[in-house]
Amino acid sequence: MIGSGYVGLVSGACFSEFGHHVVCVDKDAGKIDALKAGRIPIFEPGLEDVVAANVRAGRLTFSTDLKNSIPDADAVFIAVGTPSRRGDGHADLAYVFQAAEEIAAALSGYTVVVTKSTVPVGTGQAVEQTIRRLRPDAEFDVASNPEFLREGSAIEDFRRPDRVVCGTDSERARNVMRQLYRPLFLNETPILFTTRESSELIKYAANAFLATKITFINEMADICEKVGANVQDIARGIGLDGRIGSKFLHAGPGYGGSCFPKDTLALMRTAEEVGAPSKIVTAVTVANDARKMRMAEKIEDAFGGVRGKRIAVLGLTFKPNTDDMRDSPSLVILPWLKGHGADIRAYDPEGMKEAAKHLDITMCDDAYQALDGADGVVILTEWNEFRALDLDRAKKLLKRPLMVDLRNIYKAQEMEEEGFAYYSVGRPPVL
Ligand code: UDX
Repeated sequence: MIGSGYVGLVSGACFSEFGHHVVCVDKDAGKIDALKAGRIPIFEPGLEDVVAANVRAGRLTFSTDLKNSIPDADAVFIAVGTPSRRGDGHADLAYVFQAAEEIAAALSGYTVVVTKSTVPVGTGQAVEQTIRRLRPDAEFDVASNPEFLREGSAIEDFRRPDRVVCGTDSERARNVMRQLYRPLFLNETPILFTTRESSELIKYAANAFLATKITFINEMADICEKVGANVQDIARGIGLDGRIGSKFLHAGPGYGGSCFPKDTLALMRTAEEVGAPSKIVTAVTVANDARKMRMAEKIEDAFGGVRGKRIAVLGLTFKPNTDDMRDSPSLVILPWLKGHGADIRAYDPEGMKEAAKHLDITMCDDAYQALDGADGVVILTEWNEFRALDLDRAKKLLKRPLMVDLRNIYKAQEMEEEGFAYYSVGRPPVL
């Protein structure tokens, strides 16, 4: 497994749990040392246990030595980062090709080289050409096997995926992939074999579709606010239609994270480049960017201006159960509020260390410390511990009982009974 970041580490650990021998490789010696010492560099529920159990069983090891990790391998996964290239939004493939070159130099015997990183259509072919150019003698195939892991439930997603997608025309490579995913095969998980191009595009299409679903319900929420409707009823009312489905219809402050923002942008660029521009994907990215900013204005309206106000903020990460801050709405909303004169007191169960690198705000030890003396509270991320706040205690700590709940985790009626002024997303406010 080349690259021991989020995807590489989860995939490597889970493949070792399937009974395979896995070496997770990374250039970052600090990361590999930490992993060898049993420390997991990211917060992901369940990952530490899977890693520990498989290290103990002798199936999972860590190394900085790519060269010596390749020759014995039946499959080599490229799971390095593909960030948005600065300036144009294209996926930056520098790490992928660097890995391909190093793999080429070390190949020995038949090997399937698998791109797990999210890569634009055509990358598999380019990786194959790179390896072929450097090693005309090597026996290998290049397959695409995108991941669909959600942060916070990645282990579960790996063990019980809705499907596995594998793109290759080679029957020999398919057999290796079948063996790798054998436990899932036995569980009757659909394993979809396609061409490499289709597999590469499936990943982008899936993420763009989900991002579209979220953006659609967010726009419905805006309409609801204008006409006095309730977006949760709309989501239920449309979600029960089997063709639509109820998942990914939670209105909120806009999607963030390591995948949706970068993948929608990359798909948009690819579509333009091949002369088939996607108006939908373009609109989704524009709408989502604008939304984050609008959420700051929504907070300002609820507070009746934020200058000189102290605002308690609960949640900083882009979603719960992760410490990932990448493209989190908080990175847009909080600097805006601060720039407009607010004093921000924030608490997040896992994200504060990472958040402190990007946000100049006061971090608190817990939710109640953030609330103490604040003019109101804003919920930005739906961590479970924020779903059951002691509202009496909160009222005593706040200067006035005001909540802006951008994740709709409280019931309007309950807040009314508690005497809160309560603003949420796509639902009538309690004033
Ligand atoms: C996503 C995909 O789900 C996963 O399959 C892919 O491989 C990587 O990207 P992830 O980014 O971990 O996973 O989180 P996800 O749970 O999909 O949420 C992404 C963003 O959408 C978050 O900001 C979340 O708050 C937001 N979201 C999600 C909503 O606003 N409403 C929803 O109904 C669902």
